Parts: sequence; structure tokens; C-alpha cells
Amino acid sequence: MAALGSAARLFLFARSSVGLTLRRRSTAAALAQNAPPESQENRKPKTGILMLNMGGPEKLEDVHDFLLRLFMDTDLMKLPVQNKLGPFIAKRRTPKIQEQYSKIGGGSPIKHWTSMQGEGMVKLLDETSPNTAPHKFYIGFRYVNPLTEEAIEEMEKDGVERAVAFTQYPQYSCSTTGSSLNAIYRYYRNRGERPKMRWSVIDRWPTHPLLVECFAEHIRNELLKFPEDKREDVVILFSAHSLPMAVVNRGDPYPQEVGATVQRVMERLGHCNPYRLVWQSRVGPMAWLGPQTDEVIKGLSERGKKNLLLVPIAFTSDHIETLHELDIEYAQVLAEECGVENIRRAESLNGNPLFMKALADLVQSHLRSNESCSRQLTLRCPLCTNPTCGETKAFFANQKLP
Ligand code: FES
Repeated sequence: MAALGSAARLFLFARSSVGLTLRRRSTAAALAQNAPPESQENRKPKTGILMLNMGGPEKLEDVHDFLLRLFMDTDLMKLPVQNKLGPFIAKRRTPKIQEQYSKIGGGSPIKHWTSMQGEGMVKLLDETSPNTAPHKFYIGFRYVNPLTEEAIEEMEKDGVERAVAFTQYPQYSCSTTGSSLNAIYRYYRNRGERPKMRWSVIDRWPTHPLLVECFAEHIRNELLKFPEDKREDVVILFSAHSLPMAVVNRGDPYPQEVGATVQRVMERLGHCNPYRLVWQSRVGPMAWLGPQTDEVIKGLSERGKKNLLLVPIAFTSDHIETLHELDIEYAQVLAEECGVENIRRAESLNGNPLFMKALADLVQSHLRSNESCSRQLTLRCPLCTNPTCGETKAFFANQKLP
């Protein structure tokens, strides 16, 4: 889902400004300041935590393969003659996307942030959950290295006893988490092997209290940076990646789960400001879930609402949709065109230690629950036509846990 937009949009690595309020920060400085600790110890892990995400190309030469995998992912999108059209679109788009990457220092920050979050999570888990230690995190990206399949191989080789597939998308969509879980299932099916590890899955966490607190904290911090006399007038725009209406209408749970996160965050903030949930990154001629973030910025500005706070609510690390789409396309270019006075973007959760605590807490509670997946995962979309979804759900639901 986010990948759809990523394929069509520029990647840029900077906080932005509308020439009025947003500050910039260089990629190098940000990364240096937040450099992850030493890599994990070389030890036999008892519990392996596979952090699932779409990933993003780290280098310009990775862009083509990233796009190719994305356009060939039938869980994400169905194209006519996909095995021909997918490679064709990937090849055609590669130069443009590479050019865009080159403008942001040549790579996506997602692996950097996921590694840092994983390190923090595992350190906490080793302290708070000695009976499931040692813990080790693995990164399983869908479209770039380290790929999900490679990570599973490594986990099996490491002799992990208990494997947790942990989606890094707080809100579930069949286009994102669903695609990653299908990849795990297919890994074993294609090899005709049963897992040696006992698998379970954290498939959604849209209202986890610490996640909600992280978002609230980042919003509070950003609100304080508005001029005092404008602060109460600020409209908070929670922006999530949109979905094609065809996906929404088959019963995908994502819109409802994103709404749940927004509701909890606003409750936590005591409904301090007016707000809307808006949707970004629409691409192509099909109908997509709206209202679209750019149209909302324009519409609010025309109606005299010229102080806006953008909050990325459906992705926890910086990525193209924050660094370029929100910061540059909307907060710089569009806002200036529309005469917006102040527009800011709440920081992504990235290296926030409270967020690492949230991740550790999710894993610890999940391991204690001894549940293989949420009840919600067991239900297919009412209009799902992808048989793999049913097989994947059965694969996880039927795992035998001690
Ligand atoms: S598309 Fe949602 S379960 Fe298959």
C-alpha cells in the first residue's frame, strides 16, 4: 500500500519548511546523531522477532529491484499480465525514482530506523523477560534486502525456538501486513517444509497505549513550536497512506484501525485542537479513499484555516511519504501556493526510546498471552478472492504453542 505511493513518488530525506516554520535537518547529521548501538551479540537466540515492513532501497542501484518486487507482488496489486507488465513498469520508472533518491542522499532511512528500534526492543526484552531470553530481532522487508525469506532462513539457521512475526504497521491491511504474512506462509509451502520454530504473529496494534502516547508526545512537541497566538487555531491533520476503494470495499480493516488510532490519540490529547483524518499518496486513475491530504490543505486554507499540523499516523519511521510527500510537496510547495501561514509536521517515531518500550511491551505481552494471532486475523476480508490469505491465516492460527 505505502509501496504504491513510493513507486510513484520522490524520496527525500529532510525535514521541511514552508519558508515560515519548518526546520531542515541534514540526513547525515540526523543519522550520525542517532547512530544505532553495536549490532546484536553473537549468541543463540531463544526468541526471534521478525520485524516486518515493506523496506526501501538503500542505494540507487537497489531501486530497480525494489520496484520490480513491488509491481510483481500480487498480494499488493493485481495487474493484467503481471509477469510482463510488472517488469515493464519497474524498468520504466527506475530512472525517475533513482533521480529522486539521489536528491535525498541516495537512500531510504527505513533499515536504519528499524535496526535501531529492534536493538532497543531486544535490550529491554532481555531485561524484562528473562524466561524468553535471549531475544534477537531480524528484519524482514518485502521489497528490498534483508528480504523476509532470507530472514526466515537465518532464523532457522540460528536455531530460534520461538518466532514472532511482528508487523511494523500498527494498523492491519491485507496490502501491507497481509502481504508479509503471506510471504512467510509461502516460504514454507514452496519448500514443502514445516517450520522448526514455533511461530506466532503480532498482526496489529493500533491502540497500544505507548504507541498512542508516542504520537501524543510528538504532537504536543510540535504544537509548542507554533506561534503562541496561533496555537489554538491549529488544525491537526492525521495523514495515512490511502487505499484503492476496491481494497476498502472488499472489507480491508485498515481504514477503521487507522481511525481507532486517531481517536485514542485525540483522547490522550484531551481533544486540544480540531482534527481530521486524511489520506495521502493516491496514484493512478482509480478511485481511492479520501479526503486526500493535498486537497484538504487547499480546502482548509481557502476557508481561512491557515495553521496546520501534519501527523503521519500509519507508519512509524520516516519514509518517502513523510520526507518528501508531506515535507516537500505539501508543506513547502503546496502550502506556499495556498498561502498557508504555518505548517509543521510531527516527527516520526524513529528513535524515540518510548517507542522502543512500546515494541518491547507488545512482544512481552504477546509471548505471555500464548496466542498464535489475534482473533481478527482469522477472518478473511468478506470479499477476498486471494486463496493464499486463507491458507496463511490457517498457518498461523494452527501453530502449536507450548
Ligand atoms: S484480501 Fe483481505 S483476507 Fe484476502
